[in-house]
Amino acid sequence: MTPPPEVPENATFNADDHNLDDNVVVGYHCERKEVPPLQIGENARLRRGTILYDGSTIGKNFQTGHNVVVREECTIGDDVAIWGNTVIDYGCVIGNNVKIHTGIYVAQFTIIEDGAFLAPGVSIANDLYPGDDDSAEVMAGPIIEAGAQIGVGVTLLPYVRIGAGSIIGSGSVVSRDIPPGVVAFGNPARVNRNVSDLPPVSTRDTDHPLR
Ligand SMILES: CC(C)(COP(=O)(O)OP(=O)(O)OC[C@H]1O[C@@H](n2cnc3c(N)ncnc32)[C@H](O)[C@@H]1OP(=O)(O)O)[C@@H](O)C(=O)NCCC(=O)NCCS
Repeated sequence: MTPPPEVPENATFNADDHNLDDNVVVGYHCERKEVPPLQIGENARLRRGTILYDGSTIGKNFQTGHNVVVREECTIGDDVAIWGNTVIDYGCVIGNNVKIHTGIYVAQFTIIEDGAFLAPGVSIANDLYPGDDDSAEVMAGPIIEAGAQIGVGVTLLPYVRIGAGSIIGSGSVVSRDIPPGVVAFGNPARVNRNVSDLPPVSTRDTDHPLR
């Protein structure tokens, strides 16, 4: 797993080191608990509507689309992009070179390792029995290992581990661990084949009027 990003301790945020739109909030006050100031590495590109809470640590070259929220106590690596209308809830760990697309909910205590990709509309759960106090005590999101590719509209249930480099087909509901290097899909998601056995895309009918 990625080591935490190298952001100088007590770094003060200097807007001149970044490329910020209007209506961006860097260091939003955390009401849930007392947290240290937000730390963020150089060269962030933050688009209108982004809100980054205090108490998180973010590496360099961070990019956001419109209306992105990153809550407190998250650790995010270098070269991470998070696109519009996505919420990263508190206490998540995200590695380097992670791409998190549009309209995604990343639940508290989710781990996303280096190079993983989440396609639009992915939903992540962390509370197995909603409304149950014991379940709330132990809530945790999934672990998405390095380079895993999560398709559009996938739902990941609490605690599942998505193996490194695996592809989860669009619309799947993942309720059990998925090993590394496989294609899995369906509700519930089941392994279909190895990624290495996918036919070359050139064998598919990819004709399209816009290309
Ligand atoms: C999972 C996936 C990689 C499988 O690709 P593939 O191995 O080439 O699959 P095929 O198209 O040959 O389909 C094999 C069978 O699985 C079914 N299938 C494929 N993907 C499925 C999915 N996501 N959910 C349910 N069934 C699926 C197909 O209908 C087909 O069934 P059939 O044999 O009864 O007709 C691909 O379908 C997919 O979902 N890719 C992700 C797309 C995406 O979300 N991209 C994100 C960026 S926009």
